[in-house]
Amino acid sequence: TCYCCCFALFFSLSPARRVAFDCERKAVPVHWSSQAYIIGAQPLCSQLVGLSQGQKKLCQLYQDHMQYIGEGAKTGIRECQYQFRHRRWNCSTVDNSSVFGRVMQIGSRETAFTYAISAAGVVNAVSRACREGELSSCGCSRAARPKDLPRDWLWGGCGDNLNYGYRFSREFVDAREREKSFPKGSHENARLLMNLHNNEAGRRIVSDLAHVSCKCHGVSGSCSLKTCWLQLADFRKVGDALKEKYDSAVAMKLNSRGKLVQMHSRFNPPTNHDLVYIEQSPDYCLKNQSTGSLGTVGRLCNKTSEGMDGCELMCCGRGYDQYKAQIVERCHCKFHWCCYVKCKRCTKIVDQFVCK
Ligand SMILES: *[C@@H]1O[C@H](CO)[C@@H](O)[C@H](O)[C@H]1NC(C)=O
Ligand SMILES: *[C@@H]1O[C@H](CO)[C@@H](O)[C@H](O)[C@H]1NC(C)=O
Ligand SMILES: *[C@@H]1O[C@H](CO)[C@@H](O)[C@H](O)[C@H]1NC(C)=O
Ligand SMILES: *[C@@H]1O[C@H](CO)[C@@H](O)[C@H](O)[C@H]1NC(C)=O
Repeated sequence: TCYCCCFALFFSLSPARRVAFDCERKAVPVHWSSQAYIIGAQPLCSQLVGLSQGQKKLCQLYQDHMQYIGEGAKTGIRECQYQFRHRRWNCSTVDNSSVFGRVMQIGSRETAFTYAISAAGVVNAVSRACREGELSSCGCSRAARPKDLPRDWLWGGCGDNLNYGYRFSREFVDAREREKSFPKGSHENARLLMNLHNNEAGRRIVSDLAHVSCKCHGVSGSCSLKTCWLQLADFRKVGDALKEKYDSAVAMKLNSRGKLVQMHSRFNPPTNHDLVYIEQSPDYCLKNQSTGSLGTVGRLCNKTSEGMDGCELMCCGRGYDQYKAQIVERCHCKFHWCCYVKCKRCTKIVDQFVCK
């Protein structure tokens, strides 16, 4: 129900610009039909609280892109919540200042992840929108034929326009950082460099995972003819890959020339496919207004797991309460000819554990 406002909220990160933003009240059309945005052209971009000056200009020039930018950011947020569902910080979206709340003010690994996955979501959504013919300024991919494609296969099915999606995301998402200017060597400038690095890492991962996809033609499925095109990976794969990058994220600091360099030089320097961070994460154990941490009181945990989802780690040693909960499941599924599966609903009682 809330596309662009989600995006606008997320990118409205500076505390000075905290604006309570109510998607309903601003009445941003959810599915902008072409009429809606052509007639209402001017108000749209100015209504989107949280866009930077540069982003407002891009919004005016590329109004038909805005819905996809919003959808992309939203896909990124959903994937973030999936990837972190068993962690203390679960990518929950609360606060008013940004979708992710004040924790984004800390230049932590978690912040790095959210920037990367949102930028990745935008590349993904815009590239696909091009292919689907939804945008006036791009169409199917015009990527060159891969050299190793067998000679008798055709290249040129309508592919995801990764090249356009990548470039547009770089212009739009990075605009917010690029128009800022902070003294060299300041913490703010370090954060700016960190954000740009992680935005780029997110986009690179999407690009790394894009692949060639083919379809068979020919007499009665003989597959004597194949047509192939560029296809973006399923976004879950992007999430999985970025989660691995999160686990191996590189700690950085500013050097004397105001550049970000790795904290521990014994490791390889990060590439632009890696995530970087400049501050330690808070422990996210307790609710804390100043860090924006929600705490883990009331979170479900797993009594037998020794991982982050286990009660010991999730509850930060505070202990847990045990409940009996009733859950409803699909069961006794039967296959019917032809072709569907019919299931019953069974309820069962399970033990649930909840952090104190
Ligand atoms: C969000 O804004 C509302 C009203 O604008 C305020 O009452 C509430 O305390 C704010 N929440 C946070 C977490 O800052
Ligand atoms: C909140 O976090 C800050 C920064 O880590 C810390 O200094 C402060 O003591 C915390 N406050 C509470 C109430 O835990
Ligand atoms: C994420 O954590 C918050 C705070 O502990 C909790 O309120 C929320 O329900 C959690 N979300 C999910 C999807 O588990
Ligand atoms: C709890 O953790 C154990 C060990 O990792 C796992 O086998 C089990 O499926 C988990 N239970 C739930 C309900 O997720």
